Amino acid sequence: MKKKYIIAGNWKMNPQTVEEAKRIATQVKKVAIKMKKIETVACPPFVYSNLIKVDDGFSLGSQDVYFEQAGSFTGEVSAEMLKSIGAKYVIVGHAERRKMGDTDEVVAQKLNSAVDAGIQPILCVGEKERDQNGDYLGVLKNQIGASLGKLARKDVKQLVVAYEPLWAIGATSAMTPADVHETALFIKKVLSDTYGQEYALSVKILYGGSVTFKNAKDIVALGQVDGLLVGRESVNPEGFNLILKEIDGI
Ligand code: 13P
Repeated sequence: MKKKYIIAGNWKMNPQTVEEAKRIATQVKKVAIKMKKIETVACPPFVYSNLIKVDDGFSLGSQDVYFEQAGSFTGEVSAEMLKSIGAKYVIVGHAERRKMGDTDEVVAQKLNSAVDAGIQPILCVGEKERDQNGDYLGVLKNQIGASLGKLARKDVKQLVVAYEPLWAIGATSAMTPADVHETALFIKKVLSDTYGQEYALSVKILYGGSVTFKNAKDIVALGQVDGLLVGRESVNPEGFNLILKEIDGI
C-alpha cells in the first residue's frame, strides 16, 4: 500500500479554553478516522494533550520537547514524558521557536532526544526570504545539515521534514505548488547527499505556510509532497476537516 499522507495540525498557543480544545479534538477526530489515505496528527499545547484520544489514523504530536532526559529544568517537558502519554511525533525547530532562541544546535539536540525516545521528529526548516540569485538554497542546506546534528543513518527513517518558508507562515497566501515541488526535491537531494538515496527517499516531506482547504490539494498533488503542516486552519475544525477531505480525494 502507498504510504499515507501526514496532515499535521500545529495548534500553536490556541485555543484559550479546554472546552474549545475538546470541541476541536472531537470534531477533527470524527473525520480523521474515516480518511483512508491520511494520518492526521494533532499537535495541541501540552496542557490539552490528554484530549487527543489517539486512534487508527489519528495521532498525537507535540509542539516542542526539551533535550535533557530528566531533572531540574523548570517548565520543560522531556521526550520520555511525551512517549509515555502516547505522542508519536514532535515538532522541532519551528520558526517561532527558533525566533525565541532555539539555535540549530539546540534543534539538533531536541531532534536526537526525540529519536532516542522513539518519537518521530518533524523537523521544520525554511528560509526567511527568497532572493533572486538563489542563496536561499544554501541557507536551507546549511540549516538542514546543522539541525540534523548527529542523526544516525539508521534513524533517518524516523525523520519527517516540514518545509515552512518563513514568509509564508501566517501570511495571506501560500507558496506556489511549482515552487513547493522544486524545494522539496532540493531537500531530498540534500538528505540524499548526506545519507544516501535509499534513506533520503524514506523521509516524508511536508509543506507548511498558509494552507487552507482551497490550496491544500494543489500543494500536495502538484507540489508532490507527502503532507502538510497546518497552523491557523488546524484550530478551525470545519476548515481543517475540509483539508482532510481534499487530500483523501487525491
Ligand atoms: P499558518 O498555517 O497559520 O500559516 O502556520 C503555518 C505554521 O507555522 C505551521 O507550523
